[in-house]
Amino acid sequence: MIIGQITDFHVTTPGGEADRRYRTAEHLEAAVAHLNALAVRPDVVVATGDLVDGGTVEEYQRLRRLLEPLTMPVYLIPGNHDDRANLRTVFSDHSYLPREGPFLHYAVEDHPLRLLALDTVVPGEIGGALCEARLAWIEARLTAAPPRPTFVFMHHPPFRTGVGWSDGAAGLGGADPFGETVSRHPEIERIVCGHVHRPIQAHWRGTVASTAPATAHQLVLALGPASKIAAVMEPPACQLHLWAARRGRGQPHQLHWRVRDALRRLNPTGSCGSHWGAPRPPRRAFWSR
Ligand SMILES: [Fe+2]
Repeated sequence: MIIGQITDFHVTTPGGEADRRYRTAEHLEAAVAHLNALAVRPDVVVATGDLVDGGTVEEYQRLRRLLEPLTMPVYLIPGNHDDRANLRTVFSDHSYLPREGPFLHYAVEDHPLRLLALDTVVPGEIGGALCEARLAWIEARLTAAPPRPTFVFMHHPPFRTGVGWSDGAAGLGGADPFGETVSRHPEIERIVCGHVHRPIQAHWRGTVASTAPATAHQLVLALGPASKIAAVMEPPACQLHLWAARRGRGQPHQLHWRVRDALRRLNPTGSCGSHWGAPRPPRRAFWSR
């Protein structure tokens, strides 16, 4: 089974700030075309939050039009830029989304891997949380049926990334009790996240956890406690998670990282930044090499 992961689209209405600065809608359109054009396409796609930038109905309607060409099922979860009610309204025909209740978390049992989607949103906050109610829901889903290989996806990473802002106020509350749950469930093959706009991998609580690059703008790699959030036009990408049933001591899971071919069409010089009509990004010299 191949799971495609795309994340942090930050779609706005036409002319919105993210649209002007980073061309987020155009980048998502290219990401969708890229996934559809792969020689071996993902069986499903998961979108790990910050689907739109301002959480408005109009933004979700634009997002819906942009995702429609995908030829495989797509599963959505919210990030800190999302609005649960508006997401639920515009995607009301996405039957996996719970129709009621405070959280947009769900389990999908239709595939060789169980998909477990977690909602880490705390409205109005950059950081996220897994509160007692959400932790209880996760435990119940994992214990309700006999264990089967499980793929968890969520917006905020539960592990320490080394990037100060992500490990501080913009991090995940409840990560420790969630980690205790994860340690008790070796059937969790992987935990994949967004939020950081960068690819990071960690061995965490007996499984592998990762974040993915965003489909448009990335965030500057700034290790250390004093790091600040700053956007940079490093290449957008998606991740492909290839999973095969474990045989003996075989390797069950591989991660493939695809820098989108479409970037070259959007930016044929290969020199990110000058193309965007925005102030020169801080790392332009790096990409000009
Ligand atoms: Fe984001």
